[in-house]
Amino acid sequence: MKNYGIILAGGTGSRMGEVKLPKQFLEINNTPIIILTIKQLLKSNLFDLICIAIHPDWVKYLGELLVNYSIDKSKISVIEGGSDRLGSIENALDFFKSNQVNDDDIIVIHDAVRPFISQEILKSAVEETSKYGATVAITPVKDTMIYSENGVATQMPDRSKIFHGQAPDSFKFGLIYNSIKSLTEDERKYITGTAQICQAKGIEIHTYPGDEKNIKITTIVDLFLAKAIYGEFIKE
Ligand code: CTP
Repeated sequence: MKNYGIILAGGTGSRMGEVKLPKQFLEINNTPIIILTIKQLLKSNLFDLICIAIHPDWVKYLGELLVNYSIDKSKISVIEGGSDRLGSIENALDFFKSNQVNDDDIIVIHDAVRPFISQEILKSAVEETSKYGATVAITPVKDTMIYSENGVATQMPDRSKIFHGQAPDSFKFGLIYNSIKSLTEDERKYITGTAQICQAKGIEIHTYPGDEKNIKITTIVDLFLAKAIYGEFIKE
C-alpha cells in the first residue's frame, strides 16, 4: 500500500480582497504559503508522490518557485486544477488513475492555504485512513453555535457535538475515485466537498483530532493570524 498527497492550489483567493497574487503565493516570513505547505508534506516522508493542482494561469509561476526554493521535484507532479475545489480534486484523482494507483492506496487531500499542518496530523491521516477508508481532521468549536433564521435565533445546537472540519480529508483511492465518478448530474449541482459526496453515497467518514494552528487562510485577517502562528509553528 502506498500513500499519495494532493495539494489543492487551483483557486484565486477572491475573499482575500485586493492583493498582488492569489493567496497561496503570498508570503509569510519571506516564503510563499504554498511552499510552506509543500515542505510540510515532503518533510513527513509519507508520500510516494504529491500532486499539486494549480490554476492554469499560475503553472509557470509555481514551477519557478519550486526551483527558487530548492524543492526536491522528484516526488512532485503539477497538474491543472478545475473550476472549483471538487473539480481540482477530480483532476488530481484522474492523474493518479492514469498513473496506475491501486484502489487500496491512500490519498491525503490538503489545501495549499493550510501551511501549518503538523506532522502528527499527516501521520494520523494515513493511519486512520488505512483503518477506516475515509477520514477528516476536526477541531471542537469554541463559540456558542446559533442557528438563525430570518434574523431570529431559533436553535442553539449542542456544542459538544459540533466541530470544524479541517483539511486534510483522506481516502482509499478506489473509494473516492468511484464515488466522484458515480455522482449524477443533479448531485454535482449541489455537492461541493468530499464530505457531501460521502453523505450522498452512504460512506462513513471517521474523524480524528486536527489542530487549531492548521487554519485555512481565507481572508486578510487569517493572513495576520498566520503571520503570528508562524513564529510558534517553526519551534515545533
Ligand atoms: N481550490 C482549488 N481549485 C479551485 C478552487 C479552490 O484547488 N478551483 C483550492 C484553493 O486553492 C485552496 C483550497 O482549495 O487551497 C481551499 O479553497 P478556498 O479557500 O475557497 O480557496 P479559493 O477558491 O482560492 O478562495 P475564494 O473562495 O476566496 O476565491
